[in-house]
Amino acid sequence: MCGIVGYVGPRDCTDVLIDALSKLEYRGYDSAGIAVFDNGKISVAKSKGRLKDLENKMETEGRPQGHAGIGHTRWATHGEPSDINSHPHSGKRVTIVHNGIIENYKKLKDFLVKQGKNFLSETDTEVVAQLLDYYYDGNPLETIIKTVHELEGSYALGIVFADFPDTVYAVRMESPLIIGKGEGESFIASDVPAILKYTKDYYLLEHGEVAMLNRNGVKFYDIHKREIEKELKTADWDMDAAEKGGFEHFMLKEIHEQPESIKKTIAPRISDGLPCLEECGITPEKLKSFDKIYIVACGTAMHAGMVGKYVIEKLARVPVVVDIASEFRYRDPLLTDKDLVIIISQSGETADSLAAMRLSKKLGAQTLAIVNAKGSSIAREADMLIYTHAGPEIAVASTKAYMVQIAVMYLLAFELALASGAIDESQCRQLTALLQSTPELIEKILEEKKQAQYIASKLITADSLLYIGRGLDYALSMEGSLKLKEISYIHSESYAAGELKHGTISLISDGMPVIAVATQTALFDKTISNIKEVKARGAKVVIVCRNGYEPEKDVADYKFGLPDIDDILMPMTAVVPLQLIAYYTSVLRGNDVDKPRNLAKSVTVE
Ligand code: M6R
Repeated sequence: MCGIVGYVGPRDCTDVLIDALSKLEYRGYDSAGIAVFDNGKISVAKSKGRLKDLENKMETEGRPQGHAGIGHTRWATHGEPSDINSHPHSGKRVTIVHNGIIENYKKLKDFLVKQGKNFLSETDTEVVAQLLDYYYDGNPLETIIKTVHELEGSYALGIVFADFPDTVYAVRMESPLIIGKGEGESFIASDVPAILKYTKDYYLLEHGEVAMLNRNGVKFYDIHKREIEKELKTADWDMDAAEKGGFEHFMLKEIHEQPESIKKTIAPRISDGLPCLEECGITPEKLKSFDKIYIVACGTAMHAGMVGKYVIEKLARVPVVVDIASEFRYRDPLLTDKDLVIIISQSGETADSLAAMRLSKKLGAQTLAIVNAKGSSIAREADMLIYTHAGPEIAVASTKAYMVQIAVMYLLAFELALASGAIDESQCRQLTALLQSTPELIEKILEEKKQAQYIASKLITADSLLYIGRGLDYALSMEGSLKLKEISYIHSESYAAGELKHGTISLISDGMPVIAVATQTALFDKTISNIKEVKARGAKVVIVCRNGYEPEKDVADYKFGLPDIDDILMPMTAVVPLQLIAYYTSVLRGNDVDKPRNLAKSVTVE
């Protein structure tokens, strides 16, 4: 969602802000803007559209010049994407950028209108700017604290006061914010990649903390205005993580990073050929003490949970419920202290997943987070934590994060199955070794990416298509379908192949593409029968199956073959062609693959 940056230092502030914002583009945005102290006065430039639209506007209307300022990429929530609604927003003496939502903005706006304040935009942000202005008494810290006491919601702000040139303030109320520390310069940013080019050293602002950045460095204050010391952290990502490294898009780069991400994620959790999650606070005794497991997440992370359900239930014989976080949190879930709630999240900041986790804790359940972003809110608040080591995922469409999420699902399932006696040690060793062999198989699949490109070329004119499968193949179809629709903008649905006859098959018309995933040996013949049913009604079928199977003409038009591995581990490999097909379809349709329309990488609002 929205991205915040800020800078104080000797460099050209506008250059730094634009560059830092470009590193946050992956979060998704529809307008951008900056505010810079130019000869002691705050100069604002903002525009609907991409950063290049802002650059073009500054070329004609003037480029702010200075050494301190704030910047923003906006993902519209209150009011359409427009120049007026873009951030920064200003009161008379205060200018701000904002991430998150102010829930009580309407009430505050009514109050401020009564006090004679005029509003130009439809945003909740302008209400904050005007409220800061209303409370401003010459003391920025006092003013900020007084204002945040009036605001409800999760948000982060970057603030400049006209009376305090070359000074930038930042405050975090839930929504993440970091403060970068370089040589004689400092930064604010919503995420680490924004500042990696300048420094790896940063402070993580906590909820309720304020930072003040000026030429002398950075000072931190708590919500009671007391100055506090903070621990300096060092990012373990290098610049390459935030660059495309020769690939045309981040998404393609990230698909290729999957073998390495799996190795990095599972290697430290395997000891003597068996899964070992003790360093994450998870012992076999603890794992087997739960009656029931809930997996709660959103989007792709929820689909990883679907794979987890099939695998845990099959191997460990423990019931698993998978829930969409936005539903779970409002449906009064039946949780007890004998339940384990697993929250899966790449960003660790997804508002619904975080709320679902807090609710689970409140109801007495134990929580286990599977998170990629280090130090994120979900990671910090969970009872138990398994970090996935995919590195930063920049493309909005999640690929490598999903891969490592399912890799962790396997480790958990193996450990739980062994602990509960559902499998013996030698079976567990065998399964663990198979999991370790998947990076090599994925490398082989990636060599066949031309076939995915060819298949994509047959899909680009489709208006709508179906993904079908049974069992684990169905769980995978959900992810394949989401991947395709979010970046190609072609409508698609995933269906359990056996469910088609109960209604959906009426959608099949001549030439409609159907992508059938058929990797599960035990269900193979049944899936083939379902495929024949759609083929007989005119569907153009793409089959994703094992290399050994050669489909007859009455089954499929195109095939993507996969190397053999045990049924249970097939999702680790079968998802790769689905990702590649989605990727190439999007490229061939000329879409903005890494930043699909309307989407944000990190969904920090409900
Ligand atoms: O950061 P999270 O894993 O919690 O994000 C969850 C979803 O928003 C995310 O997976 C989304 O569905 C992606 N765009 C999928 O590619």
